[in-house]
Amino acid sequence: MVTMTQTITNEVGAALGGWAPEQAAQEEEAQDVLAYVSHPGRSIVMGASIKILGFAGSLRKQSYNRLALRAATRLLPPEAQLDTFELDNIPPFNQDDEREPPLTVRAFKAAIEAAAAILIVTPEYNYSVPGVLKNAIDWASRPYGDNA
Ligand SMILES: Cc1cc2nc3c(=O)[nH]c(=O)nc-3n(C[C@H](O)[C@H](O)[C@H](O)COP(=O)(O)O)c2cc1C
Repeated sequence: MVTMTQTITNEVGAALGGWAPEQAAQEEEAQDVLAYVSHPGRSIVMGASIKILGFAGSLRKQSYNRLALRAATRLLPPEAQLDTFELDNIPPFNQDDEREPPLTVRAFKAAIEAAAAILIVTPEYNYSVPGVLKNAIDWASRPYGDNA
């Protein structure tokens, strides 16, 4: 069954190269992500009902966690849809910017808000979560009253 959302996702995913933006095209691609999650027709879904957003806590190209997340996108029941977001271009958190965050952070927060559930796939770094994951969660958690 092909859903409206899947069609949109496939088009955007293809345009973004699998949602893994190159540094040079970061701004333009973040705009595309924002346009996708803000699209008024985004929630018009025939069949699919549960939207999940997944991201990995490792930036390594051959990351086992990234591979596991990619595998998860192919193991879903037809009622669910898993979009993924790459954390590579999320800058270090700065509270000075939390009310007007960078475009990639806005796209990240919008993608979270558009999802019914979050799937985080991450390694352990020094008995904790990797800094890149903690940093992304810090951005998403702010500002107070307008967090994702
Ligand atoms: C900075 C750093 C800290 C790590 N700390 C831990 C740890 O505390 N516990 C653990 O089991 N593995 C630890 N590891 C090993 C990673 O979890 C392991 O290499 C994992 O495969 C990395 O995930 P990835 O394949 O998705 O990149 C650490 C690796 C790095 C690079």
